Amino acid sequence: PDVITVQELANRMAERAADVIKTLMSMGVMATINQSLDPDTAQLVVEEFGHNVKRVSDADVEEALVVADDSEEQLLGRPPVVTVMGHVDHGKTSLLDALRATDVAGGEAGGITQHIGAYQVTMATGSKITFIDTPGHAAFTEMRSRGAKVTDIVVLVVAADDSVMPQTIEAISHAKAAGVPMIVAINKVDKPGANPSKVKTELLQHEVVVEEMGGDVQAVEVSAKQRTGLTELEEAILLQAEVLDLKANPNRVADGVVVEARMEKGRGPVATVLVQRGTLRTGDIFVTGAEWGRVRALVDDHGTRVSDAIPGMPVEVTGLNGVPSAGDDFVVVENEAKAREVADFRQRRIRETQAAAMKKSALENMFSQS
Ligand code: GTP
Ligand code: MG
Repeated sequence: PDVITVQELANRMAERAADVIKTLMSMGVMATINQSLDPDTAQLVVEEFGHNVKRVSDADVEEALVVADDSEEQLLGRPPVVTVMGHVDHGKTSLLDALRATDVAGGEAGGITQHIGAYQVTMATGSKITFIDTPGHAAFTEMRSRGAKVTDIVVLVVAADDSVMPQTIEAISHAKAAGVPMIVAINKVDKPGANPSKVKTELLQHEVVVEEMGGDVQAVEVSAKQRTGLTELEEAILLQAEVLDLKANPNRVADGVVVEARMEKGRGPVATVLVQRGTLRTGDIFVTGAEWGRVRALVDDHGTRVSDAIPGMPVEVTGLNGVPSAGDDFVVVENEAKAREVADFRQRRIRETQAAAMKKSALENMFSQS
């Protein structure tokens, strides 16, 4: 059964807990703030306060988060979101750094210190590409297991002097399982032992057939170190994006996904959010995972404060009540009551799951000891 504590009930009604306790007393129920109430008692209290009673189910909550579908004519082009994957030391970070340095909006090249889990590169042509700088497979798999479709394209980095290695194969299977198209970046071609043909041949064994071999996977030879092939790689990404025909409606309430989140001194919980639909604005009320908040400030990947963020744009959000997890959804809702309702519901569900797991392991212990 769905129980709720006095405190949670007060939160959901946006009333003071003390007033809820008083009301309970007037009904002949002595309760403390952390006490759980059965649904019927809770319903009486809610009615006593003159609120409408609505018992929320899982489906209700998810439904509350869904805004009407966007019609075709509301959709506008959006930048592709790209994740770089590959074997350890094959140059993922170096390549991301090199690509970031090609950003014409970023001021002087190379002066990058700001760490953000995602960033956007504006090319000389004005085209934009969003890169997610994940620590490799972990974040990608985690996001995928949460059902968040974040990445449009995977760039598979393979070092030309080392060729296909275990984590290369792993990355290929991740991309295939997620149904995300791949572009191969054959890196370190500046090295004396570089052998790009060997890479292409070995990829064949894993059903990655590059164009040169008669397949449809684009392969670009690059050197993150000498910064060669970067424009070609970006052009390959844009070409693939064109095929995917990526669109989103910017004129609606925003939703997106948390790329990373942390607690920061002086700023509180900070989340890097990739906006997927709509426009996120300062002051918006949102739910993210089991947390909620009101956007206090938005900071872009250059460390500049911005007033809004459109689809494909990564931004740092402050104004959260807690730290969400990477891969959590991020959804703007109508009002604070709705935000609290969803967040409370999800927190309760987490607690219930934890309690059930504890009960299970306690039982298992009992049986294993007997
Ligand atoms: P992990 O994050 O540990 O998996 O590694 P990574 O894939 O991010 O590789 P990283 O960018 O850290 O590069 C690994 C090493 O390769 C570093 O010493 C780089 O300087 C070097 N390296 C990366 N790209 C190139 C390149 O194009 N040419 C040469 N010669 N060295 C490179
Ligand atoms: Mg790295």
